[in-house]
Amino acid sequence: MRLANKIALVTGASRGIGHATSLLLAQEGATVVAAARTKKDLDELVERIASRGGKAKGVICDATKAADVAACVNEAIRAHGRLDILVNNVGIGGYRPFLDWSEADYDRIMATNAKSTWLFSKEAIPHMLAQGGGNIVMVSSVAGLQGYPSEGIYCMSKFAQVALAQSLDREFYKQNIKVSLVCPGGVETHFAIGDGRTHGGPNMSGFSTAEDVADAILLAVTPRDRSRVVNVILRPMNEMT
Ligand SMILES: NC(=O)c1ccc[n+]([C@@H]2O[C@H](COP(=O)([O-])OP(=O)(O)OC[C@H]3O[C@@H](n4cnc5c(N)ncnc54)[C@H](OP(=O)(O)O)[C@@H]3O)[C@@H](O)[C@H]2O)c1
Repeated sequence: MRLANKIALVTGASRGIGHATSLLLAQEGATVVAAARTKKDLDELVERIASRGGKAKGVICDATKAADVAACVNEAIRAHGRLDILVNNVGIGGYRPFLDWSEADYDRIMATNAKSTWLFSKEAIPHMLAQGGGNIVMVSSVAGLQGYPSEGIYCMSKFAQVALAQSLDREFYKQNIKVSLVCPGGVETHFAIGDGRTHGGPNMSGFSTAEDVADAILLAVTPRDRSRVVNVILRPMNEMT
């Protein structure tokens, strides 16, 4: 098991990529603190991990609220004494012509995707510094590497995560905090059907799976003494680069 004795906090864990990542990290021996807003889904996830012999705890948290985020990280520290891995996965999408977006849409998307990443990192890093290191993964997107039409605000929020990842990597790598960017293209989740990146209707058969992205996240957080994974781009087989 690659993550024995590690404590991992996964945001947006109630479904999709965060759910698959929680299952995989637990399977690799990590104790998972699974954060999201929907208790029922978190309870099911924790039960499923327990039924496979793993360890997990659900924490209800609105990732846009500083007090919730602080309470979530504090709960992980209170229960386990350390935090080795933070997966900043929570996110919402948006696909609509540029002129149709409102200020409320902007605030919601930026808060959920960009601000939450800053809040969780800010709460986690002091603990990682105190314990001598850790891993932070930003689940951004290919929409954080180039702009796409009708996704302007979403792209802004995903570029912001890339910027923060690069900045934190350069600021903290010497203190053994490894910051990794994972940038998927289309992934078969609720996100892609709802207000996300599905351009061509609900047919997602050519998309990556949430498990594919979880594999990339595991690669990023797998302990290695002499290297860190900086950037992973995951393209589904039906997408150009
Ligand atoms: N699917 C794709 O095509 C795709 C492609 C590239 C990148 N991504 C990125 O991958 C990440 C995960 O996406 P996904 O596809 O797995 O989406 P998803 O299936 O819709 O899951 C999103 C998760 O975020 C949680 N969430 C949303 N708003 C929240 C809030 N305010 N506070 C706390 N939790 C919140 C949801 O849980 P609750 O509703 O229970 O809170 C859910 O667990 C996102 O950052 C997304 O930008 C996705």
